[in-house]
Amino acid sequence: MAKDSLTITDNRTGKTYELPVTHGTIRALDLRQIKVEDDDFGLMAYDPAFVNTASCKSRITFIDGERGILRYRGYPIEELAERSSFLETAYLLIHGELPTRSELEMFTHNITYHTMVHENIRKFIDGFRYDAHPMGILTSTVAALATYYPDAKNVSDPDSRRTQMYRVIAKMPTLAAYAYRHRRGLPAIQPDNDLSFTGNFLSMLFRMAEPRYTPNPAIERVLDVLFILHADHEQNCSANAMRSVGSSQVDPYSATAAACAALYGPLHGGANEAVVRMLNKIGHVRNIPEFIEDVKADRGRLMGFGHRVYKNYDPRAKVIKRLAYEVFDAVGKNPLIDIALELERIALQDDYFVERKLYPNVDFYSGIIYQAMGLPMDVFPVLFAIGRSAGWLAQWEEMLGDSEQRIARPRQIYLGAERREYVAISER
Ligand code: SDX
Repeated sequence: MAKDSLTITDNRTGKTYELPVTHGTIRALDLRQIKVEDDDFGLMAYDPAFVNTASCKSRITFIDGERGILRYRGYPIEELAERSSFLETAYLLIHGELPTRSELEMFTHNITYHTMVHENIRKFIDGFRYDAHPMGILTSTVAALATYYPDAKNVSDPDSRRTQMYRVIAKMPTLAAYAYRHRRGLPAIQPDNDLSFTGNFLSMLFRMAEPRYTPNPAIERVLDVLFILHADHEQNCSANAMRSVGSSQVDPYSATAAACAALYGPLHGGANEAVVRMLNKIGHVRNIPEFIEDVKADRGRLMGFGHRVYKNYDPRAKVIKRLAYEVFDAVGKNPLIDIALELERIALQDDYFVERKLYPNVDFYSGIIYQAMGLPMDVFPVLFAIGRSAGWLAQWEEMLGDSEQRIARPRQIYLGAERREYVAISER
């Protein structure tokens, strides 16, 4: 009967080794037994950007990139987008099960009553230039939260972890809204606990002189679904940052700030902003063929296309594309959608993209929706971070509870100078 193992012959020595195969992987540490001399370090695996390396075992999110499948704790993203709410999905990601009605009410209460931030944080934000990028403000202020909650260092205390997780999820929208209001030169708006998680965020963003803000229900629902769609995505760049930084047992605010910094990059969460800038630059559907030729000549990237894992249509992009029209019905059509649709149509027929299995990802249509909602481009990645905060925290807590995990510390292949003597400056 076939054995779940690899038999490897080291042609340098003629020796053979049998390595067990579990979950479709070999343990990299099993390679260390393969040596030429007994005092050799042994073999390592080399995998820049971890293209083919599993860094952990996880039960949170499943992606099948070839079939375009995404599930949170086994539930298809399409069903959660249709039937769930962001806070219910956040509970699911963190606890592993959908909440009962009373569990959801308690979770919602805990989040709602942690939305305020210390007034000094608002003064801290006043120190930023008027045109500071909101992601720079968010990354900094999330890190600053750690200084207000020293008990957050007790990462081995489940009650402390839970409280900090409530605070991160609850305060991200508040910090994001503060950053947006600072940018606009508008006074910060305090949370309104009578509104939903997403309704309160809209109130903190857009309330002006009216005594109470009433969110547009269509916008509130679409934004809540967008938070669901962005809530987790297994071991993406920012989740890896959360796990890696969190593995030093730093507090969750500092680890979340590292995840925010990773998400800020244009190849990751910054792509939704880059997509709208790209569509504005294209300007008209007649300019698309020339733009496509530039991309194929490596003079630019089709932002919002391509993915390390999805080699099919990102299932989130399909949902977001549909949501766009719900927003347009409520606030009017964003003309960029016509350029995006034509760009997608042309790209999906072009061999360059087809051969490389480049399809629209989560960022291709989301920015168009955010812009239609009246949000400036540099706020888009902040919206991504609000949704992803739930996933980052779920990944962080799973890492802390995994007995196989230790402080993350990869190895390297050293190709630098051999030992050499110091040379006095007078002789250089
Ligand atoms: C997110 O990991 C996650 O799960 C991320 C995310 C999440 O929810 O956390 O899904 C969110 O970050 C979505 C991705 C957003 N980024 C973009 O839209 C930026 C544009 N896309 C890319 O830069 C790229 O596709 C990545 C970064 C998303 C993936 O990069 P990979 O896996 O390292 O692929 P690659 O850069 O090696 O590209 C493979 C080939 C290359 O061509 P060749 O060298 O083989 O000739 O495809 C080409 C690339 O040049 N290519 C593109 C392209 N993406 C890849 N060419 C043009 N336009 C693109 N968008």
